[in-house]
Amino acid sequence: MVLNLGDKFPNFTADTTIGQIDFHKWAGDSWVVLFSHPADFTPVCTTELSAVARLVPEFAKRNVKPIALSCDSADSHTKWIDDIKAYGKLTEFNYPIIDDEKRELAVKLNMLDKDEIGAAGLPLTCRAVFIIDPHKKLRLSILYPATTGRNFTEILRTIDSMQLTDRSKVATPADWVQGQECMVQPSVKEEELASLFPGGVSSVELPSGKAYLRKTKL
Ligand code: BEZ
Repeated sequence: MVLNLGDKFPNFTADTTIGQIDFHKWAGDSWVVLFSHPADFTPVCTTELSAVARLVPEFAKRNVKPIALSCDSADSHTKWIDDIKAYGKLTEFNYPIIDDEKRELAVKLNMLDKDEIGAAGLPLTCRAVFIIDPHKKLRLSILYPATTGRNFTEILRTIDSMQLTDRSKVATPADWVQGQECMVQPSVKEEELASLFPGGVSSVELPSGKAYLRKTKL
């Protein structure tokens, strides 16, 4: 299944380290970051799961639940969590890991990497990230190869951007972080600026003479 941005994210049931879940029910009214891994007991994955555990309070502030997936059993995940905690000097591990030993979700969500073959001769999942909003809509998806660990601070930044742009008719520029100026969306008409942005809007002068680069601070 190829999922496009805006599609309803499919529901599924799965075994996880917190028992069996119905994904949509588990997500409830939260945003979800679903991120996949090639395999348990691998170095980059261990650093990633530890990084996310450390960021759980930041995800919670934004009403986001993280959930990981790896192509091994829930039993294996539970044993691996001890290593993840030790590596990250964590006292607890506070989000679930999905058991996808049979690759059912990996196939359904198109996450397999044909170039990464595991010990059992089966393809492994790449490092996929799906961000799903409380309406179960897919809002962002990225695929990284197995050899490149992800930057989860960047994932938080994209969530800040999506949550802000859901509330106001703005878009966030390159390297934007929360609190910085953002751009008025091109669809906003000049006559709407004062009511939508009472704090003011400044236009950047450009050689084209077109006033499309309009900045505002929210
Ligand atoms: C890792 O997590 O370190 C890893 C997993 C599969 C392939 C390459 C690296």
